[in-house]
Amino acid sequence: MNILNIVTSPRKEKSASTAVVNAFLSEYKERVRDVTIDRLDIWQEQLPEFDAEAIDAKYKGVSGESMTPVEAATWEKIRELASRFQRADRIVLGVPMWNFSVPYKLKQLIDLSCQRNMLFTFDGEFYGPSLSIDKAFVAYVRGQSDAAGFKTVSQPGFEYLSGYVEFWLRFIGVRSVVNLTVEHSWDGRAVDMIDAGKRQAVELARQF
Ligand SMILES: Cc1cc2nc3c(=O)[nH]c(=O)nc-3n(C[C@H](O)[C@H](O)[C@H](O)COP(=O)(O)O)c2cc1C
Repeated sequence: MNILNIVTSPRKEKSASTAVVNAFLSEYKERVRDVTIDRLDIWQEQLPEFDAEAIDAKYKGVSGESMTPVEAATWEKIRELASRFQRADRIVLGVPMWNFSVPYKLKQLIDLSCQRNMLFTFDGEFYGPSLSIDKAFVAYVRGQSDAAGFKTVSQPGFEYLSGYVEFWLRFIGVRSVVNLTVEHSWDGRAVDMIDAGKRQAVELARQF
């Protein structure tokens, strides 16, 4: 069983989302034999910018045109990132809320890796998934909760994280997505809330 574990928080051992995901993975490894974890820490990975050269590499990659050395290196990195998804039997990630959405570095990973004929197909009419993955586990973490109200608009809860991440996972070929949410990760309730999140993650790992 090859698990792709995408680390999207830069906070290493201080990270609540990583702590919850690690609790999930420890329990999963206890229960399932021959588990390999491919840890993709997007803050350590030196992801290329998706700039003009990367976009040229993408179009030349698709059309088969020859590339400059920089374009070729970028395209190679894109293929390598996509191959880590292609090798995965399961995907597991923690996602902190950043301004009601995902950390920008996760979007960068998605933009780089999510290429036609790598993670999805398109025949001119229909999109389809390139992957065939039974399950993903996603732990969403936020510092506050909707209790911290606004005067002008209502809070969206986890909608802008979980809606997009779940859509994208299904788009590339994940059939079932198991979610967990943790709130109040940076206020006076943080220790209790993160502990509760870890316990819930352990329970979910038993059924994963
Ligand atoms: C750039 C940034 C933006 C954030 N935006 C929000 C937010 O919109 N709502 C919220 O409740 N917490 C927000 N937080 C707090 C994080 O969601 C919280 O600290 C969470 O625990 C981070 O996950 P981590 O501990 O795994 O890094 C933000 C934190 C950062 C660094």
